[in-house]
Amino acid sequence: MRNLTYRGLGALLPLLLLWAAGANAQNTGTLNLDVPYVPTPQNVVNRMLQMAETDANDIVYDLGSGDGRIVVTAARDFKVKKSIGVEIDPVRIAEANANAKAAGVTDRVKFLQTDLFKFDFSEASVLTLYLLPDINMLLRPIILDNLRPGTHVVSHSFTMGDWEADKQEIVEGEALYLWFVPAKIAGSWEWKIGADNYRVDLVQKHQVITGTLHGPGGDSALVNTALKGEELKFAASVPRRGVPILMHFSGKADKTGLTGTVDFAGAQQTQVTATRKP
Ligand SMILES: C[S@@+](CC[C@H](N)C(=O)[O-])C[C@H]1O[C@@H](n2cnc3c(N)ncnc32)[C@H](O)[C@@H]1O
Repeated sequence: MRNLTYRGLGALLPLLLLWAAGANAQNTGTLNLDVPYVPTPQNVVNRMLQMAETDANDIVYDLGSGDGRIVVTAARDFKVKKSIGVEIDPVRIAEANANAKAAGVTDRVKFLQTDLFKFDFSEASVLTLYLLPDINMLLRPIILDNLRPGTHVVSHSFTMGDWEADKQEIVEGEALYLWFVPAKIAGSWEWKIGADNYRVDLVQKHQVITGTLHGPGGDSALVNTALKGEELKFAASVPRRGVPILMHFSGKADKTGLTGTVDFAGAQQTQVTATRKP
């Protein structure tokens, strides 16, 4: 498999599917590759990094970094703070280091020869993947449990099962998927406005939020919910002088609580901090 030069995944798809179905790592001599080497076309690399809104504040990790093109592009063209490739194959590591040198980015780029499943990439603010469906699924709980809320994850070709992408597009025939790592906000949260007590019960499936607001006027199902990283929005119908109006919450989730604003049909904006009910 060392000399494969396929440009896209199309020609290789049957092989990759067989590979995934067989659930066997490829043995190239002493190496166990979970995924064969297939480089991402350069235009697709550029788009992956654009989709992730990569900028100078980012720390980019490419898991299974091949010849380093994503890592090098992030440093050279997107001027990221730090760009790390994790790659098990020493031949690819040597190519990647040569490419980083040619691009003049060795000060901000590092390639680590290791198994991606044995490596802590939790400092990533942008994570790029061109792996396989089953490898994405094995990485999914690691990503959801360890990466900071709001981290941008971009995958070339493969999804994350029922963690639906926040954005997806086709570039030069290649599917790209983008996710924002969602904060963990499931549970009950309480706040007070004047003498009125409110509680919201949030049910979470990745970034999809449903739930119920319990307020002085009764219970109502949440509508217009959105969770992007740690930014949460929801609305619920509440009675005001006998007339139902929409109460909106917009704020951020962190370890201490949900902090943001509540308004009633766009008026009476109040700062609130909701605390988690044990
Ligand atoms: C499909 S290629 C993607 C290369 C690069 N990310 C790109 O998009 O151009 C997958 C890469 O993962 C590497 N790889 C496979 N199993 C790995 C493992 N367990 N740990 C780290 N890298 C691995 C392969 O050697 C290969 O270079």
